Order: sequence, then structure tokens, then C-alpha cells
Amino acid sequence: MSDSIPWWQSGVIYQIYPRSFQDSNGDGVGDLPGILQRLDYVCSLGVDAVWISPIYPSPMHDFGYDVADYTGIHPLFGTMDDFDQVLEAAHARGLRLILDLVPNHTSDEHPWFLESRSSRDNPKRDWYFWRDPKPDGGLPNNWRGAFGGPAWTFDPQTGQYYLHQFDPHQPELNYRNPEVLAAMLDAMRFWLDKGVDGFRVDVITMMIKDVALRDNPPNPEWDGVNPADSLKPVYSRNQPEVHEIVRAMRRLLDSYPGDRVLIGETWVRGEYLQYYGAALDECQLPFNFDLIRTPWTAHDVCAAVEYYEAGVPQGGWPNYVLGNHDQPRVASRVGANQARVAQMALLTLRGTPTCYYGDEIGMENVPIPPEFVQDPPAVRQPEIADAVGRDPERTPMQWDAGPNAGFSAQDATPWLPLAADYATRNVAMQERDSTSPLALFRALTDLRRSEPALAVGDYATVKTGVADIYAYTRTAPGCAGSLIVLNFGCEAHTLNLSAVGFRAEIALATELQRGGVVELAALNVAANEGLVLRLVR
Ligand code: GLC
Repeated sequence: MSDSIPWWQSGVIYQIYPRSFQDSNGDGVGDLPGILQRLDYVCSLGVDAVWISPIYPSPMHDFGYDVADYTGIHPLFGTMDDFDQVLEAAHARGLRLILDLVPNHTSDEHPWFLESRSSRDNPKRDWYFWRDPKPDGGLPNNWRGAFGGPAWTFDPQTGQYYLHQFDPHQPELNYRNPEVLAAMLDAMRFWLDKGVDGFRVDVITMMIKDVALRDNPPNPEWDGVNPADSLKPVYSRNQPEVHEIVRAMRRLLDSYPGDRVLIGETWVRGEYLQYYGAALDECQLPFNFDLIRTPWTAHDVCAAVEYYEAGVPQGGWPNYVLGNHDQPRVASRVGANQARVAQMALLTLRGTPTCYYGDEIGMENVPIPPEFVQDPPAVRQPEIADAVGRDPERTPMQWDAGPNAGFSAQDATPWLPLAADYATRNVAMQERDSTSPLALFRALTDLRRSEPALAVGDYATVKTGVADIYAYTRTAPGCAGSLIVLNFGCEAHTLNLSAVGFRAEIALATELQRGGVVELAALNVAANEGLVLRLVR
């Protein structure tokens, strides 16, 4: 790939949820030495960067997204020395390392919050949101916590409420106070000085709230399931001043050598477009979750891609995400057959792909019996646990058919139950099967590396005339270019795509059993099949 193209543009990002990747010490929880042991596997996937979900000291009320020290390592995950070893080993293998930054809130055990709550006149009081009860004794406003209940908790010691838009153990920081941003930038500096290659910024859209903390209006589209969705976050998300904070973070990254990347956790269609920054001075990769949130049909996915292609600002670079630790597994959302098609889309659309650990072997949601449920929204709201719980997509990586799937020692108890199918769905087995989902994943990343048009070329939709089939080309100057044909349905079709060219060679088929040259005037596409075709000009 050309040197002028930054790695985060041509590369593939792999997300590791550290509790669940590899346990090295038999305590049932994954850790940094475990990640170190598996780095060669990560490399073998043909990915370019690893994003590790939070590894900082934390009381683990939200499994690390409640940070008690931004510049430490939780002993569960290891030591700072272990971290340094992972970073060095990753870099030695040409892998970049991205950390998860959780700037919107801290743990309620963070020293900043302990100080802040200690008295009304503590110098850190204003680092968080403290408000009096309303004159009638009510809550300061109507905002709700994403994990159930109101977004305010009363602290009897000082007679005021504090704000938390997730769990009550996650008080929100006040970025209208410049000291808070300065402290967060210091924490970022600590890791950048060590050489980390960037940050994925947690709930970037919420870092600034309405100055008057006005009530949010009702959400007319609420489906009645999760009360947290019953209001429109008009005053709690995407406030204009948030961009100043993001720009300050980006300026810091840009002051370091190398291509350090800022990834923003944006959620909603369109929202991500705001976070490139008017002068492309915010996130290089504001997450696009449309492949997760869009109904899995050829029509809807095509419409989502076209919307995005039209919206990404000039000079900005797209990205796609198929799964993460907050969303049901892709193989469960779309089914095992379509999971292959989904991987092919993720790795051939124009944009940096982010892959969630385990999706490369087709891991599915694991049903969690009520007594094992751990995720705070599910624990706090047992009546809607199935709708809001995220444990099913966070279960241990399935390495082999041995005890505890190779994730943890034989006599250990993994922190979440293993999938029932781990003896037949695991890395070791799929490495021996040249048609496995793992083989497909590797073939796709190989192809991206060998065909610049797939990694960084242009995108154009191709009309197929068949409702279930979505097709597009990826082209770049000096390259033959590729045609990607994805059948979202369970019927075979013969397509006439002669408008694109006469002949093409099958570079890859989702089942990994087809090759050879095909005539585009009569292209056979099997049910649930995806094809990457190299155009023969
Ligand atoms: C983000 C994280 C999620 C976490 C929440 C609060 O959405 O991805 O796991 O619970 O922020 O930090």
C-alpha cells in the first residue's frame, strides 16, 4: 500500500474484549499476558490494529467502562509491565494498538469523584454535575440512565444529586470546566508517550450536555421496551460545544509522530458525519454502526451505504462495524449463512472495517441463565434483561475443543458461561477446515492486502435487477478493479451484469469452493452467496 495512505485507512481493526479473550492465570478472566500469548493468532488474521476495551483499574460495575485510574492497569488484567510487553510485541509484529478512552464519566471510586462528593466547596465539586433537588424535592431534570432508573442519584452527605447517564456508579464529568479536559488530555499523553497508536473514545457524543440541563422531550418513536429510550436526547447528546473537546483531543494526537488515530463511538445514522469535524479536525474514524442497525436486506444495506457514501465529507474516510461488545453477535442477528455475506461486505466496502473478536469464527450469542447475568442494564432491569443484556456477546473466545475452550485453565470457572457449541465451533477446528468462516476471514483480509482497489479504491453501486442481490464495484487507478455481488436471499439467481464488463475471475466466494472465470452476462449466484470478482478488462 502506498506510504502516503495512513494505516488506519487501508487497515483492518480487531476489537478485543480483554475479559474474554485469553485467561493466562486461571482466574476465569482474560488478561494482558493472555493477549500476548494470542498475538500471533491476531496477526494471522491479517488485521492491522487491535483495539482493546478498557484495562484500567475499575470496580467493574460496567466491566471497565467505569474507570478509577486513567493511567493504571487493573490487576485482573496484569501489570503495567504486562501492558508494555503487549505494546512492544504488537509493534514488533507490525500491529498497532488502540486503547479505549472513557472520558464521559469516571467510576464513583475515582479519586476525582471522591473529592468532588466530599463537600460542596471542594475544588473538584464542579468537575461533575451536582444539582439541588427541585423545590418540590424532585429530580433536577427528567433524564434517564441508560442502564435503568433516573440519571440522578441523591447524595445525602451534601444534599445534592449527581448526574450519571449510564450506571449510578458512573458519574459524568463536566467538560465545561477546562480543568477536566486538561486532566483527560494528560491521561491521553501518558499512553501516547508510551507509543499507543490511538484511542477509541467512548460515548463521544455525550461529553458536553446542555448548559441548563433542560428536560429531554418524549421520543415519539419509542417502542415501549427500554425506558432509557423513552426520551429524545436533544439536550444530552451532540451539543455543539462537544466538537471543541474532540478537536482538542485530535490536536493532541496530531502533535505526536506517526499516524495516531481518533475513533469516536457515534451511534445513530448521520450522527457520525458530524464528528469528522468541519476542517476534518476531529475523528478520523467516527464509528458507523449502520451495518449493525440496518435491517439485513439487500435494499436496506445498499441504501445505508449510499446514504453514507454521499455524506462522508470530502477528504474524510468511511468505516464500518459489524459487531461489538454492546450488540448481539452478527451470526445471531443475520444467521450463519448470511454471517459470511456480512463479513464479505464488511471487508470489501469502502472504509476501514472493525471486527469484533470471535466473529471471525462465527461465534453466536450465548444464552445466559438468569443466575449468571452480569451486565448492569440486565441486572438492574431483569424484566427486560433479554432486550438490554450484553453478556451473550461477551462470552469467552472459543480457541479449541479442550476444557474451557482453551480460554482458561481446566479447573477455572470462566467469568461468563462458554457457548454450548464450542467443541465444534473453535479456532483450532476452523484452522483445519479450508472452507471455515475463519478461512473466509483470512482470505478476505489477504485479498484486501493484495488488491489496493479493495482497501482504498472508489465505490459504485451496481444495479442487479434482483431485489435480494446487492452489488458494487471497487476501483482504483491502475487496478483491474473488483465487483462484489452479495445475495441476501435464500434463492439462487442468474444475473446479467454485462454493464460492468464481459468476464471476471472469481477471486473469492463465501463458501470458498468456487473459482475460475465467469461470464458477467450470465452470472450464477447461489443462495446466501457472496462473490468477489476480479474484473478482466
Ligand atoms: C459505551 C460502551 C459500553 C459502556 C458505555 C458506558 O457505549 O461501549 O460498553 O457500557 O459506553 O461507558
